Amino acid sequence: MPMTTDLRAAVIGLGSMGANHARVLGDLPGVQLCGVADADAERVHRAINGRPIPGFATAAELFETTKPDLVSVVVPTGLHEAVALEAIGHGVNVLVEKPIAATMEAASRIAAAAHERGVVLTVGHIERFNPAVRELKRRLDEGQGGAVLQIRARRVGPFPHRIRDVGVIHDLAPHDIDIMRYLLGDEIERVYAESRRHIATDNEDLFAGMIHFRGGAMGILDINWLTPTKERSLTVLCERGMFHVDYAAQHLAFFENYAAAAREGVFGSVTEGPMTRYPIANREPLRVELEAFRDAVANRGPAPVSAHDGMTALAVAEALVRSANERCPVTVDEVPQA
Ligand SMILES: NC(=O)c1ccc[n+]([C@@H]2O[C@H](COP(=O)([O-])OP(=O)(O)OC[C@H]3O[C@@H](n4cnc5c(N)ncnc54)[C@H](O)[C@@H]3O)[C@@H](O)[C@H]2O)c1
Repeated sequence: MPMTTDLRAAVIGLGSMGANHARVLGDLPGVQLCGVADADAERVHRAINGRPIPGFATAAELFETTKPDLVSVVVPTGLHEAVALEAIGHGVNVLVEKPIAATMEAASRIAAAAHERGVVLTVGHIERFNPAVRELKRRLDEGQGGAVLQIRARRVGPFPHRIRDVGVIHDLAPHDIDIMRYLLGDEIERVYAESRRHIATDNEDLFAGMIHFRGGAMGILDINWLTPTKERSLTVLCERGMFHVDYAAQHLAFFENYAAAAREGVFGSVTEGPMTRYPIANREPLRVELEAFRDAVANRGPAPVSAHDGMTALAVAEALVRSANERCPVTVDEVPQA
């Protein structure tokens, strides 16, 4: 039985990601799933899955009828703005899936509305809640490995035919842009990208990007929808060794550079040292993310991933698209804090 103090949660958009939000919120302690909505009645039926939860065809009906405290907005990216603004207008705290919106203008309107209304607005940059990434962040912050020279992300897999409103840069690159900023605690100054479109849609499906961080680290993005097997990995090359993360398996390994370890402070050489796999207590990142959202709502903030973080990831994605279209490096403008 839910306690009377449980926060009332809702999910709007019950497609491949939204169904997972409904599943996790359905048994999260401290939360009562009070309603779900999707334009497709069959998806509403499937997400309810026999539970006594009211289902709706529109966000407006859901907000009027159930008055939730918090909502996951999991509609296609082009609709994030309309649905998030509707939620904020009803005073509901919002987790909007990544990317925060399809354009920076839309993202600014969402962030401004949340700020004015005083609700928590967070963005679903789920990889921050991956236990392997958290362990990597802890080790980097402790100084293991020394200075970071380069971060390389590979996020490839088959074409998702349901996504037609944005290309692969907007859909997938924000994950790794956000993780690189999070791990380095640094901002991106300049990007360069090459992209191609092979499958007949309006947007790119193959992309390679180069990132220059203000502190000097280099980022490499290898992202596409054309690879017949799924891979989501990250390598962080440091002076004293290299970390490797398999996001999906939640594995973290460190390959030591013996030569650098022997000559502290002087980057004289590189030799192959031993590899260590660290034990990681696996957890579902979406569950960790929704726990953090629940706690932020209960404490009235701060958002676990801020609107500023979401907007910065989108600004970099937009710069990458522009770079690919204009075939030149693009300077990334700083996103102002709300
Ligand atoms: N964090 C992640 O790892 C991750 C993974 C996948 C998708 N996403 C994000 O989640 C969002 C949804 O992606 P998806 O893959 O689940 O898409 P999807 O197409 O599978 O699902 C979208 C759902 O929204 C419904 N919908 C459309 N318009 C609606 C409206 N006005 N009101 C209510 N419902 C409406 C559709 O009927 C559909 O069921 C996107 O922004 C995507 O970028 C995030």
